Amino acid sequence: MVKQRQQSKQSRSHYTPVIIIAILLIGGGLTLLFFSPGFGQAQPITINGQSITDDQLALGETVYETNCAACHGIEGEGQPNWKIPDQNGVLPAPPHDSTGHTWHHADEQLLGIIANGGSMPDSAMPGYQHILSDEEMVAVLGYIKTFWGMQEYDFQQQVTHNSN
Ligand code: HEC
Repeated sequence: MVKQRQQSKQSRSHYTPVIIIAILLIGGGLTLLFFSPGFGQAQPITINGQSITDDQLALGETVYETNCAACHGIEGEGQPNWKIPDQNGVLPAPPHDSTGHTWHHADEQLLGIIANGGSMPDSAMPGYQHILSDEEMVAVLGYIKTFWGMQEYDFQQQVTHNSN
């Protein structure tokens, strides 16, 4: 009996270092993942390589909700059937979230559309150059990026980088 108990104690302590190493590995891995760029909001949003501050994002949210949400949706969901022109041949507003194609375009192009309006002859997209300041247009584009997933964000950052 005594011998048996000693044995089981021995085998338990034999595993202890393995368990400690496993915990350290998992903990270390999670810490690395958390601090690596591209993990959730840990990554700062940039426009043309310049970081957007929390204050700018808050400004962008106000600008978006006041000027853009009526067409593009409060969560950037766009208008229904946005790929199908209406009876006058005018396209509905596209989504700005991951389901749309805003994230396919470089920052400079998106800022151009916001300033000058849509490129289609009968576009419903107004130009905001006389309504919003440059700072407000950068802020609203920063806010639109909060609708994207990590993949869309990384893709669009690459497109912007390549276009500069
Ligand atoms: C009256 C409705 C309307 C409002 C208000 C509006 N948009 Fe649009 N927007 C559209 C339509 C429609 C399109 C697509 C048609 C086109 O490009 O000609 C569009 C396209 C865009 C695009 C290009 C998207 C892409 O995938 O190519 C951007 C960026 C954009 N809008 C940003 C904004 C921002 C920012 C605001 C607010 C400051 C805003 N829009 C307000 C209707 C609107």
